[in-house]
Amino acid sequence: MSPNPIPQTDPRAGYLARRKAIDEAIARTLESGWYILGAEVSSFEVEFAAYIGGRHCVGVGSGTDALVLALRAAGVRPGDFVATVSHTAVATVAAIELAGAKPLLVDIDPKTYTIDPEKLSQVLSSPPGRISAVIAVHLYGQPADLAALVPLVAKHGVRLIEDCAQSHGAYFGDRRAGTFGDIACFSFYPTKNLGALGDGGAVVTSDDGIAERLRALREYGWKERYISDIPGTNSRLDELQAAILRAKLPALDLENTRRAEIADAYDKGLQGLALTLPYRRAGTSHVFHQYVVRSGKREALRMALKQEGVATNIHYPVPVHRQAAYEGRIAVAPSGMAETERAALEVLSLPMYPQLDDAQVDRVVAALRKTSFS
Ligand SMILES: Cc1ncc(COP(=O)(O)O)c(C=O)c1O
Repeated sequence: MSPNPIPQTDPRAGYLARRKAIDEAIARTLESGWYILGAEVSSFEVEFAAYIGGRHCVGVGSGTDALVLALRAAGVRPGDFVATVSHTAVATVAAIELAGAKPLLVDIDPKTYTIDPEKLSQVLSSPPGRISAVIAVHLYGQPADLAALVPLVAKHGVRLIEDCAQSHGAYFGDRRAGTFGDIACFSFYPTKNLGALGDGGAVVTSDDGIAERLRALREYGWKERYISDIPGTNSRLDELQAAILRAKLPALDLENTRRAEIADAYDKGLQGLALTLPYRRAGTSHVFHQYVVRSGKREALRMALKQEGVATNIHYPVPVHRQAAYEGRIAVAPSGMAETERAALEVLSLPMYPQLDDAQVDRVVAALRKTSFS
């Protein structure tokens, strides 16, 4: 085993890179004496909405809560179907059930790992019941095919919710992901491209009515303090996390650029090996939350890399519709899940975080070139 293993991700390195600004932000918040929904959250909401290019941002407790509240604010009713993918974090699908709706899972496009618009179109044309929303997941940092999805949902009168948990800052054409649907949901889980030092999430929308409902829903449905207009919950981004996110947001574009540089170096270094490298859709920017290769000999490759001190991860090893919590009772589109199931067997995430240095990237490339499984 190598003396200096390379982790697959490293949120502590993200903290250390901005330590002074983050420590100051924490001290400022502790000193302020105001810890819930104060100046830090409202300033972050203004700054993040401006960064994404939406009119409103509402800070919530997590990316999962962002999705649940977005579905409710979008008018998804109990018993409605919400179409999304099975090749995603379980949270995407869990959120649909938490909102009282029924997931309807659609296969992915094998090149981008995002929802297949053709298969979605088929299921929207002959739905098993009322489909009121589609959640498009911009997986690994690359936007789904928004050029196809936006007119498709408009044709069927269905809401589009963008799951941007892995795509902070990515562009589709000249606009950022998160400005194409009715609502965009973000997670600030510590390893995300914009990560807090705890849980956090946000919803971005340019719809005034949806934003107002979200503000009520995250705080007991309050119209005014102690008076609930609608049944809500408690899911507020807290002041400390908002202050930390404000310290990190100004570096997000630079960090995304560094991720893209690392991806370019991997692309170049891994040419000619028996691996499928990430596809980049023309006209989009990929912010490389993950750099994912495919291999028919993934487990052997993973073990060989571990021997070389290179950590990897699998996003995701079991499609949601195959997991015990969902298998057999969750709706799957008639077109099936062939690409999802194949991807789950082959995908492998290499080390990827902005603080990875060039020597470490070279070591990852050399380790891959050395193994006989690639
Ligand atoms: C695609 C996707 N959706 C939703 C979530 C849920 O976010 P959180 O962990 O903040 O609840 C995550 C992150 O875990 C994610 O990667």
